Amino acid sequence: MFGAAGKFGTLVTFALLSTEAVSQTTGFPPCDALISAGLGNRVLLATSDAYETRVQSWWNASGRLRPWCFIQPYNTQEVSTAVKALAASGSGAGDWHIAVRSGGHHMPGTNNIADGVTIDLGMMNSSSYDATKNLASVEPGAAWKDVYYDLLHNYNVSVTGGRDGGVGVGGFLLGGGNSYYSGRNGLGCDTVANFEVVLANGSIVDANADQNPALWKALKGGSLNFGIVTRFDLQAMPAVDLAYGQSIISSEHSNEVVDAVVQFTNHPEELGGDALITLYTNTKTSEDVTIVIIRVNTRGDLNTTSFDRVNEIPTLKSSWELKTLAGAANDSQVPAGMKTFATTLTFLNSPSVLRQSVLLHTQLVSSLSSAIGTENFTTQMFLQPLPSYFGVIGKRKGGNMLGLERIPSNAILWTGGVAIENGDDTALGIAKAQWSTMTANLKEFADSSGAAADLIYLNYADTSQDPLGSYGPENVAFLKDVAKQYDPYGWWQRRVPGGFKLSRVDV
Ligand SMILES: Cc1cc2nc3c(=O)[nH]c(=O)nc-3n(C[C@H](O)[C@H](O)[C@H](O)COP(=O)(O)OP(=O)(O)OC[C@H]3O[C@@H](n4cnc5c(N)ncnc54)[C@H](O)[C@@H]3O)c2cc1C
Ligand SMILES: *[C@@H]1O[C@H](CO)[C@@H](O)[C@H](O)[C@H]1NC(C)=O
Ligand SMILES: *[C@@H]1O[C@H](CO)[C@@H](O)[C@H](O)[C@H]1NC(C)=O
Ligand SMILES: *[C@@H]1O[C@H](CO)[C@@H](O)[C@H](O)[C@H]1NC(C)=O
Ligand SMILES: *[C@@H]1O[C@H](CO)[C@@H](O)[C@H](O)[C@H]1NC(C)=O
Ligand SMILES: *[C@@H]1O[C@H](CO)[C@@H](O)[C@H](O)[C@H]1NC(C)=O
Ligand SMILES: *[C@@H]1O[C@H](CO)[C@@H](O)[C@H](O)[C@H]1NC(C)=O
Ligand SMILES: *[C@@H]1O[C@H](CO)[C@@H](O)[C@H](O)[C@H]1NC(C)=O
Repeated sequence: MFGAAGKFGTLVTFALLSTEAVSQTTGFPPCDALISAGLGNRVLLATSDAYETRVQSWWNASGRLRPWCFIQPYNTQEVSTAVKALAASGSGAGDWHIAVRSGGHHMPGTNNIADGVTIDLGMMNSSSYDATKNLASVEPGAAWKDVYYDLLHNYNVSVTGGRDGGVGVGGFLLGGGNSYYSGRNGLGCDTVANFEVVLANGSIVDANADQNPALWKALKGGSLNFGIVTRFDLQAMPAVDLAYGQSIISSEHSNEVVDAVVQFTNHPEELGGDALITLYTNTKTSEDVTIVIIRVNTRGDLNTTSFDRVNEIPTLKSSWELKTLAGAANDSQVPAGMKTFATTLTFLNSPSVLRQSVLLHTQLVSSLSSAIGTENFTTQMFLQPLPSYFGVIGKRKGGNMLGLERIPSNAILWTGGVAIENGDDTALGIAKAQWSTMTANLKEFADSSGAAADLIYLNYADTSQDPLGSYGPENVAFLKDVAKQYDPYGWWQRRVPGGFKLSRVDV
């Protein structure tokens, strides 16, 4: 959408906007500064209907903060203009700050702000494809379901992105990006050939293997510490339908499920075209826990033998069919709008730790039922394979920041949380306390059984956790060096405080 013609379009827009800007004063200095910079048409104030609609588009209900204004840039030049205007607008005067949002699916407070301005990249949501380079250029504000749909219908190609179609491009790729395709292509960030970035001083740079290579590497897991990424150029692949299935399994078969997950996680890289996601969830009508297993062959091979072990387990319901990635992403959106709490851990692929996580989850469902009522909450606990070869692929592609090579063997990415049905903050507080304690107990169990793995995966981490620190001292030192080079005055640290900040990580 904003290809070669973008720059010219911007100039025209600026000319049109600057006349309007003079007559508008909001009383909020940074919002006024944006208007004076010619971005009046891109500023949303709480007095407009569009503002409230936008507030409601944040995924977690607790994240629906109401900033003084949203700035919604339409292209890279406008992001640059906005950053410059905000940087020049009374930094230090008043207790206001800036937030940046792409898909709005991350933890509340990382992507929105009550006192200050939110840079909302949602209008930058186009995807295009260059066949000569086999690169898909994807803008940060798009949801993955739209990326897949656009790339499939316009170019018949696909990329290594999110599984839940509502998740945004920007946050996902800057935090790693666990995808159905990770067994073939590595994490989503490993497939980024080039980032286009707006730095703290408003200058626009490319970061790839040749230009700004340290920045390229730092952005692969480094989140919002270096600049705003305005375009991701992603290695593309032919769009092949997925072989996709879900199995619903009664919790009495949990031991067989755990054994199947452990076996699958130990598969060699040659079977990396297959993906397995296991979910434990309570049923709300009783304290019973149900298991959902998602099976995917990313080459559309309905005959894959990778799931033979899983398929031996009796199911309550089971499916297995060809599906487009766009369709699968569209169908697997976790509903927005609930108050939720989630944490993550990584531990080695040990059956006893997995069984312990199942036990702790079952106990939590029971104790939370007594505390706030079975009908008032839903839990989700995910067990996802993190085989060592994910890290090996990442290394082959230039390396990312997660420090996967420090995990001594195949591992499990554990994550989960509780959603409160009626948004009751008292119930949420209780659920948070119980879930956090359970997470700490599970970590202790894993550590004491010799199954410790340091990674706290940023995209799943709660704000109480320290994902950047979990990347290891060498990577943290590297990230800090890169930040010093590209943001010498620490603007992203001081003025954009949400999310995971390098300045808060001790080496
Ligand atoms: C229902 C659900 C399903 C999920 N499924 C998966 C999954 O399958 N795999 C996986 O790996 N993760 C998954 N996640 C986690 C998800 O990857 C993260 O929440 C991610 O941050 C979402 O990206 P976003 O663009 O929607 O985030 P946002 O909330 O918009 O942004 C996240 C963070 O990144 C910063 N940021 C956003 N865009 C930019 C940019 N362009 N430049 C610089 N900084 C930016 C923001 O300031 C914020 O700190 C899921 C999350 C949810 C809620
Ligand atoms: C995508 O951006 C365009 C403006 O560039 C906007 O009109 C449209 O509503 C956006 N789409 C979504 C799904 O937000
Ligand atoms: C899209 O690509 C796939 C995989 O290469 C191919 O099988 C299919 O025929 C293509 N579809 C169209 C409409 O070109
Ligand atoms: C799968 O098996 C069926 C029947 O055995 C066969 O017809 C089909 O070609 C196989 N598909 C693939 C992708 O190998
Ligand atoms: C996405 O899912 C919704 C709800 O199931 C459906 O109405 C819509 O048609 C789907 N869109 C696409 C593009 O598949
Ligand atoms: C939703 O918001 C709450 C409050 O900040 C937070 O503790 C929780 O972890 C968030 N849940 C998810 C799943 O992101
Ligand atoms: C469930 O939540 C509702 C609304 O907050 C509350 O009235 C009810 O008592 C709760 N149920 C139990 C068993 O605590
Ligand atoms: C902007 O910052 C970058 C990184 O620190 C620097 O290389 C560049 O010279 C700066 N540009 C201007 C115009 O100051």
